[in-house]
Amino acid sequence: MASKNILEVQDLNVHYGASHALHNICFEVKEGHLLALMGRNGAGKTTTLMTLSGLLKSTSGAFRLRGSNLEHKSPEFIAKNGVRLVPQGRRLFASLSVLENLMVGEQKIERRALWTKERVYEMFPVLRVKKNQRASTLSGGEQQMLAIGRALMGNPEVLLLDEPSEGLAPIILEEVNQSIAKLKDEGLSIILVEQNFSTAKSLADDFVILNAGLVACVASADQIKLNPELATQHLGIS
Ligand SMILES: Nc1ncnc2c1ncn2[C@@H]1O[C@H](COP(=O)(O)OP(=O)(O)O)[C@@H](O)[C@H]1O
Ligand SMILES: [Mg+2]
Repeated sequence: MASKNILEVQDLNVHYGASHALHNICFEVKEGHLLALMGRNGAGKTTTLMTLSGLLKSTSGAFRLRGSNLEHKSPEFIAKNGVRLVPQGRRLFASLSVLENLMVGEQKIERRALWTKERVYEMFPVLRVKKNQRASTLSGGEQQMLAIGRALMGNPEVLLLDEPSEGLAPIILEEVNQSIAKLKDEGLSIILVEQNFSTAKSLADDFVILNAGLVACVASADQIKLNPELATQHLGIS
């Protein structure tokens, strides 16, 4: 059975001043799927996620969550309606404790009240151990877990992950990737920006590849596995 689209991005254009960063971007996220958003540095991945979370305003186009257009809504409105960003570089509150960072993200929503701090601690036990420590004292991997946990505390329907693996040691990377797989298995819809092609292939149902602010390729994971060059020609890898 074909799944429904939870998020639809249609003809999105974004400018930084006179510089045209995203050109008529179109793609869809199916409910419960993980979409890998890939592309070389500067392709427009972060710009896309920032726009979908309301932190950047598009110049034209639309993006719809379950059919309702969120373009030009505030970041607060978008977060409240179920789209949460885990930003590139994590952006934690360095001087707040682990627990305080989690509670900043808290949003109780009756119809999908899945996430509590207890559930975040079950997913990332190290956060329970360090709950009273300042975020700045955590390792890179622990900070990434906290950034994901903070977003989950908002009970999102769509989670936007901007390079969660950036700068992580291999062993912690594996743990973070396993938690992303688990979130997908629980039915969360996810857009994952990921530089590593084999990680993306192991996690994603669908691929969107950006090249210089344009959608260069939209493909299913099966299509990419059969014809990896659909992706690799735009990624600078072979
Ligand atoms: N704040 C900004 N002001 C002007 N140009 C920007 C800004 N942020 C990003 N850009 C430009 O927009 C393009 C896309 O950047 P970005 O979305 O960060 O790419 P990616 O995340 O794929 O590496 C790049 O050419 C980048 O230089
Ligand atoms: Mg980026």
